[in-house]
Amino acid sequence: MSSDLAIDFGSATTRVADSRGALLVEQPTVAAVDVDSGRLLGFGDKALAVGVGTAGRVRLVRPVRHGQLVDIALAEEVLGEVVRSAGVSRLSHPRVLACVHVGATHVQRRALDRALRQAGARQVRFVEQPVACAIGAGLHIEEPEGIMVVDVGAGTTDVGVLALGGIVTSASLAIGGDDLDDAVRTSIARRFALVIDQSAASEVRRRIGTVEPAGGRPRLEVLGRESATGRPASVVLSEAEIMPVLEELVRPILDAAVDCIATAPPDLANDLLRSGVHLCGAGSLLDGLDRRLARSTGLPVRTVAEPGRCAVVGASRCLAQLDAVRPGVSSALRR
Ligand SMILES: Nc1ncnc2c1ncn2[C@@H]1O[C@H](COP(=O)(O)OP(=O)(O)OP(=O)(O)O)[C@@H](O)[C@H]1O
Ligand SMILES: [Mg+2]
Repeated sequence: MSSDLAIDFGSATTRVADSRGALLVEQPTVAAVDVDSGRLLGFGDKALAVGVGTAGRVRLVRPVRHGQLVDIALAEEVLGEVVRSAGVSRLSHPRVLACVHVGATHVQRRALDRALRQAGARQVRFVEQPVACAIGAGLHIEEPEGIMVVDVGAGTTDVGVLALGGIVTSASLAIGGDDLDDAVRTSIARRFALVIDQSAASEVRRRIGTVEPAGGRPRLEVLGRESATGRPASVVLSEAEIMPVLEELVRPILDAAVDCIATAPPDLANDLLRSGVHLCGAGSLLDGLDRRLARSTGLPVRTVAEPGRCAVVGASRCLAQLDAVRPGVSSALRR
């Protein structure tokens, strides 16, 4: 039996849902690869489990960076695993609706199309993230009223103003939550000569990272190693010390949102005063981002429920009209 699938092959998280909206897969987009043979040993949590304790023989690879496939052959294998773990046999040749960033080029879409077909899909269609997110958030995108979506992921941010089922103005930036973590890590290395790993940087960002400090959060001790000696060491950080690091990356996101509104037709821009900005993507959970976006745009801002899942849920709701989605480079859904 064939079943249609909505797939969001994200830079950090891969999510798959069926046409009833059931979430079938939610796994870290990471693969464990045997260093000698190049064989795929596992995907997602299984890859992380395989990687532990097999230092040197197993390489953990992230096949999607900044929303783009970085290793197409590996992506094909990984997507095969993804389809299988969704409980769908390759032989059933599902139709797939895949989320893509608004900035995804024709070549990038073709690469994803090819990888999904190799993974067993008999037909691949695309839906841009802002459209998928808006539908996932329960917004009525086919109405003439302007709607705005800002999707902050792990490696990309998509901004879009939508009306009548399509994107009117948009922007895509190669900035997401993982870039914020990298910036925190680099800053701590430079200022304190302390090397910390990605997960420690992520913890710093989540616990004391803010782009609008309200004060009152306790300082955080961060463990790492002295860069000169490799000896264990730590530093105690406050939110005020981390904020300028995050600010540098968040500023372009705020600017892109303001630009999108400025270039939208005036009546649609006016609609946004009522409909507001819908913040999606798990990266949007950065403290203070909603308040800063509200100040920069002068619009009400609402973070959607389950922001990370919003795109795949929206794509799953489109599966019923899959035949109406134009092949290749669809920027609009005919609903
Ligand atoms: N509670 C939280 N607070 C802050 N950041 C968070 C939180 N939960 C997840 N994140 C961050 O959100 C990012 C992942 O978001 P999401 O799952 O939307 O990305 P993705 O869809 O895989 O990536 P992309 O859309 O960029 O390809 C990661 O950088 C993660 O650290
Ligand atoms: Mg995403």
